[in-house]
Amino acid sequence: MINLILCGGCGTRLWPVSRTLMPKQFAKLFDGSSLFQGTVVTNSVACESQYVISNAEQYFLAKDQLSELPECGHDPRFMLEPVGRNTAPAIALACLSLDPNAVVLVSPSDHVIRKKEAYLKALEKAEKFAEEGSLVTFGITPTSPETGYGYIEADGENVKRFVEKPNLEKAKEYLQSGNFYWNSGIFCFKVSTFLSELEKYAPDMFIACKAALANAKKENQLLRVNYEDMMAIPANSIDYAVMEKSKKVKVVPSDIGWSDLGSFDALYGEYPHDEAGNNVNPKHIPVGTTNSLVIGQQRMVATIDLDKMLVVDTPDALLVAPLASSQKVKSVVEKLKFKK
Ligand code: GDD
Ligand code: MG
Repeated sequence: MINLILCGGCGTRLWPVSRTLMPKQFAKLFDGSSLFQGTVVTNSVACESQYVISNAEQYFLAKDQLSELPECGHDPRFMLEPVGRNTAPAIALACLSLDPNAVVLVSPSDHVIRKKEAYLKALEKAEKFAEEGSLVTFGITPTSPETGYGYIEADGENVKRFVEKPNLEKAKEYLQSGNFYWNSGIFCFKVSTFLSELEKYAPDMFIACKAALANAKKENQLLRVNYEDMMAIPANSIDYAVMEKSKKVKVVPSDIGWSDLGSFDALYGEYPHDEAGNNVNPKHIPVGTTNSLVIGQQRMVATIDLDKMLVVDTPDALLVAPLASSQKVKSVVEKLKFKK
């Protein structure tokens, strides 16, 4: 299997750790390694090679981080987008440049998977379904009516319905019904299966991607798509463009310790904690502080008598908030957009 790694997003929900030039997938959040590196390492057990689809701005960042991994002994392939058009074009461009018979594992680069063995088992099943001509999704048992995820209605391994980002009312209904999984955002399929479904359900995108690839500049392991060609591709996600429409979708239920780290709250849960419930951080000097997430890798950060608080210290921005308000980081980013 070839691992197509998507890393063109900017993940603003973790500002100021994640930002345009240092999106969350490349930030070294845990043990000095990034989520992007974690993705490569985890998938390298099941995949013989990596193909990174990234924004041109992040090329050197991605390449440097790959060079730190012994798992990538060879020179991984890259597809560089001058501008992102969401996940469907990114995946399509990569697939169009591959052998139609190849099976690919498409993985977002901004998630964590804690149960590695269970994940590898799920991948084995998925690869088999993919060989047989299915578009395979990995279903996570939902725990809340999240509106930022796709929902998969399953009948065994077959998918009755795929609904991307429902409203809260629908999400509550799906959660209660018990027949739905969250879509993890990881997919497995044969290149030819995906391309024929894309041609069927998003023909304009398929044609524009073919044209863009024909003009792309090739330098050894690297393909660079032109700006004008990229802009001519309709922007859409794989979820809306293909998964909601295709009749060939299967699901592998996956109890794999998955988290997409969509907020600091979720991030807090992933760190090792000390006995006071603070994340372990050698740069943090807690005095009476409990149950808090303190991120900072350069300066010492001292806190006194805080409880359930969030402190994120970076060289040029500082964020302080109650952990429970961490979803509001979005509003900060919105405000920043309008500041000179
Ligand atoms: N190369 C490239 N180009 N990568 C991209 C682009 C792009 O234009 N846009 C997004 N990505 C990358 C992101 O960096 C991320 O790793 C992955 O593709 C998924 O994109 P998101 O933008 O994070 O998608 P989402 O979170 O809104 O929704 C997806 O993931 C959910 C689970 O986290 C969907 O698949 C949902 O159905 C799913 O539940
Ligand atoms: Mg996401």
